[in-house]
Amino acid sequence: MKTIIGTLVAAAAFAALTALLVIYTGMFNVATTWEDPAPIRWALVTTRENSIESRAASIVAPPTKGAKQIDTGFRSYREMCALCHTPPGGRDSPITKGLNPVPPDLAKSAEHMSAAELFWAIKNGIRMTGMPAWGPTHKDDELWDIVAFVQKLPGMTKSEYLAFDARLEKGHSHAGGGHGDDHGGGSESPKDAGHGDGHEHESEEAGHGHEAGAHGEEGGHGHEEGGHEEEGGHGHEEGGHGKEGGHEEEAGHGHEDDGHAH
Ligand code: HEC
Repeated sequence: MKTIIGTLVAAAAFAALTALLVIYTGMFNVATTWEDPAPIRWALVTTRENSIESRAASIVAPPTKGAKQIDTGFRSYREMCALCHTPPGGRDSPITKGLNPVPPDLAKSAEHMSAAELFWAIKNGIRMTGMPAWGPTHKDDELWDIVAFVQKLPGMTKSEYLAFDARLEKGHSHAGGGHGDDHGGGSESPKDAGHGDGHEHESEEAGHGHEAGAHGEEGGHGHEEGGHEEEGGHGHEEGGHGKEGGHEEEAGHGHEDDGHAH
C-alpha cells in the first residue's frame, strides 16, 4: 500500500514539475504556424465535438421562420462570418489561411451538426481558436437566424450565394429585422470600391481589405456596418464584426449623412 501511495505521489510531483517546466521555459511553441501532430489534432477535434455535443443537448431549436429569416441570417453571415468561413465559391482570405485551426467550411459543418450544436458554437465561441462567441453581442433570435442560413449552405453553389448577395444588396437598406438593415446609408459604390481594391486605400486596417479581396462578391459589408453603428453607436464595434465597420466608416461612406452615429 505504501509503495502505491509513494508511486502516486512521485508521479504527481513529476507531472507537476513537467507542467511547470513547460510553462516557465517557453519550450511550448505557441505559434499558429506549426501544424499539430495528428494525435494532438485528434485530441482537440474530439474534445471540441464532444464538448459542443454535450452542451447543446439541452438546447431546443425554435421552429424555423422561412425565407425572410434566411435572408436576415445571410446578411449576418456575410458581415460576421464570411471573413473567416469562406462562402461558397469564395477564395480564402488571409485571415482564413492564417488561422490554426483553419475555420471550417460551414457547409460541411452543417451536415454533421444539429441546429442546436451550431447555435451553441456560434453563441459561445470555441476557446483557443479564432472562433468568437457572438452571444455577448447578439440576441438569441439573431443567432438562430444565422443558424437558419448556415443550414442552407450544404449544396449551395457560388451563384446561389451571389444571388443572395445581389438581391439583398438592394433591398437591404429598407428591410426589417436584424441589424445591418437599418443603416439606410444606401451608398453602395464606396464599399464596393473598398472591396475591390483590397487594402491599399483602407490601409488603416489590413483585415478588411483582405477580406474584401477574398470575397469581392460580398459587397455588403459597408452598409451592414452602417447598421451597427446606428444601432448601438460605436460601442459594439468591439463585438467583433464592428471592427470592420469602424474602418469602413472611416473610409467615408454613409455615416456622414447619418450624422448621429457619432
Ligand atoms: C475570426 C474568424 C472567425 C469568424 C469571424 C467566425 N468564425 Fe466560426 N470558426 C472559426 C474557427 C477558427 C473555427 C474552428 C474551431 C475549431 O476547429 O475548433 C470555427 C468554428 C466554427 C463552428 C464549428 C464548426 C465545426 O465543424 O465544428 C461553427 C458552427 C462556426 N464557426 C460558425 C461561425 C459563424 C456562424 C460565424 C459568424 C456569425 C463565425 N463562425 C465566425 C473562426 C471564425
